[in-house]
Amino acid sequence: MQAQPASASATPSPTTAANRPDYGRSLLPLWPLDPAIAYLNHGGYGATPHEVLADQQRWRLELERGPTRFMQRTLPEALRANAAGLAHFLGAEPTDLVFVENATQGINAVLRSLSFSAGDELLTTTHVYGAVRNTMRHLADRFGAKLIEAPLPYPTLDSQTVIDSLAGSINARTKLLVIDLITSPTALVLPVAALAAKARAVGARILVDAAHAPGQIEFDLPGLGADYVTGNAHKWLFAPKGTAFLWARRDCQAGLHPTTISHGLDQGFVTEFDWVGTRDPSGWLATGAALAFYRRMGGSAIRAHNHALVNEAATLLSRALDGEEGQSPGLRGAMATIRLAGFAGLDRPAALALNDRLWREHGIEVPIIPFGGSLWVRVSAQIYNEMADYRRLADALLAFRGT
Ligand SMILES: Cc1ncc(COP(=O)(O)O)c(C=O)c1O
Repeated sequence: MQAQPASASATPSPTTAANRPDYGRSLLPLWPLDPAIAYLNHGGYGATPHEVLADQQRWRLELERGPTRFMQRTLPEALRANAAGLAHFLGAEPTDLVFVENATQGINAVLRSLSFSAGDELLTTTHVYGAVRNTMRHLADRFGAKLIEAPLPYPTLDSQTVIDSLAGSINARTKLLVIDLITSPTALVLPVAALAAKARAVGARILVDAAHAPGQIEFDLPGLGADYVTGNAHKWLFAPKGTAFLWARRDCQAGLHPTTISHGLDQGFVTEFDWVGTRDPSGWLATGAALAFYRRMGGSAIRAHNHALVNEAATLLSRALDGEEGQSPGLRGAMATIRLAGFAGLDRPAALALNDRLWREHGIEVPIIPFGGSLWVRVSAQIYNEMADYRRLADALLAFRGT
């Protein structure tokens, strides 16, 4: 029997403003999320709805009905069908996109496939994700290259400031630019296409870390002008954990290897990445169900709603706490940061302690992030959130201030 994901066989009915569900707390039962918690960290790890988890479980059971036939006959085709669905969503060609476990793995696959010379410069910004910084540092150490972190002013109010801040660090020695589409600690949507054009002009390779972008903001993947783009489907596209992609421009695919070398070595980009040893492929195969859920919940309307909600939340929190916002609405997707003034401690232990107190004493899950000598609260907005969640956060933070 040929296994079919529920999502691939069903014809989705188009979602319009008229038949779209009402957003807000009433949607929460669609997720396993604890209803006692105001969950304001969708950006952290995503949150997978019941129906996507059910599709994943259907795939698992289909596999276990006949593991050999599934792995050898069903999986290759089903994997490609799901990769094609994700590629189309991102505006990319299916043969240019492969699944990886997460953005960290996508970054590692690219960086550990490249080689550099002593004195070459690997450029990123001070807002780079910690695991990516480590990978770049590892690479720089290996080749005697230099890791350059261009500082970006923060709070950041406009794209030109970002472009100007980075431009001075791009030169003939720059061999690689690793740039976030949305930064993790600071929730900034960076002007990647403009920065990629500058890096390309000096002959550098460009890797875009789009960990947060798919489903959070509208973007045209090939239009970013990158050589490589990696991103997560498990954050803002509702896919199961461990579902991410790596896209490579056609002429950058040769010599690009997965972090695990397996049977497909040197047999082409797709062949090499599609089999990296025996693993549970059910998350990747549930990508179709995740995209179907995303579209049924509104697609672009989700992005518009989340953006508007997080802007309103940022205004509320910054006024209530008398704290600066980390970015202007134009540089924001569905996350915002607000500076916390008057709290005890500015380091990571202090941030973790505040995060824990918010959860234990007020039922709020939200990251507190030390950055640039201040503590920031980073709020996410998702269609199961509403303003009452952010009011609860404002009240809790006010109660804690100075204690
Ligand atoms: C900018 C950025 N890069 C990479 C990652 C790593 O993502 P993952 O843990 O899915 O590998 C994250 C995670 O939040 C991120 O924000």
